[in-house]
Amino acid sequence: RSIQWFPGHMTKTRRMITANLSLVDAVVEILDARIPVSSRNPEMDRLTGGKPRLLILNKSDMADERTTQQWLHRLRRSGCAAVAMDCKSGKGVKQFHPALRELLKEQIAQWRAKGLVNRPIHVMVVGIPNVGKSSFINKMAGGKRAKVEDRPGVTRTKQWVKLGDGVEMLDTPGVLWPKFDDQQAAQRLAFTGAINDDVLDIEALAMLLLEYLHEAYPQALTARYKINLPEGTEGRILLEELGRKRGMLVSGGEVNTERAAITLLDEFRSGKLGRITLEVPENEGA
Ligand code: G4P
Repeated sequence: RSIQWFPGHMTKTRRMITANLSLVDAVVEILDARIPVSSRNPEMDRLTGGKPRLLILNKSDMADERTTQQWLHRLRRSGCAAVAMDCKSGKGVKQFHPALRELLKEQIAQWRAKGLVNRPIHVMVVGIPNVGKSSFINKMAGGKRAKVEDRPGVTRTKQWVKLGDGVEMLDTPGVLWPKFDDQQAAQRLAFTGAINDDVLDIEALAMLLLEYLHEAYPQALTARYKINLPEGTEGRILLEELGRKRGMLVSGGEVNTERAAITLLDEFRSGKLGRITLEVPENEGA
């Protein structure tokens, strides 16, 4: 999950995606349901041109159910095909085939009119590191497939993997770079563990996450850390309170804020704070 994206890598990936696009009927873009905006690659729209695209909001088991429904609604209303699933347990993966056929229904009708009845549907899977590309492929293709390497571009010779129901997928997904140059997106990616902690100071990161949680999911902080502080409390105070409640003190009675920060991030990432979404569709409110 910690690849370094250099301009050379980006160029290679761009080239790979463009070259493979002509081989596929649709692009399956995997996103993290907790950060549907920040987990999108900044150039994806441009890279895929007019290719039909199916968005998968993965890790929906960790996201706020209600917000995921709002996202699906919003995306579909704006013309994007989208489904939510959990590729770890496999919940929701059955929606893939019907959603893909719906997306390509005109194309399929045209093939049929030309007598191409059993023409397979070819797809390419793309996404930033850690969104669950390998998990998706493993679930769809059954059996164990090789772990996707966090390396940009496709490195092996192309092979098609059968996903059942007449769908074939390029065996190696496109690993895309995340939105580094958007500070807020970078923070949210770091909250979920999608990019390295060392991109940002861990305590600063924890304070930002605490401020968001305190505003949007105060009950989660109360339930887990017994934090009961007034609205608008600064992240530093929240972090100190967390450490105090957990007894993370150093000599002199001060709070070990670094330990508190690590605890918060670990527990958030492993879902111990409950189902939390970090981005809500505009105008929906938190
Ligand atoms: P990638 O190919 O896009 O890089 O992602 P990958 O499938 O390797 O998944 C990254 C991590 O996210 C893995 O956890 C994986 O189990 C987890 N994951 C993928 N899909 C889901 C999902 O829908 N829900 C949840 N809760 N987790 C998901 P890991 O900690 O790296 O490994 P492990 O926990 O599987 O041992």
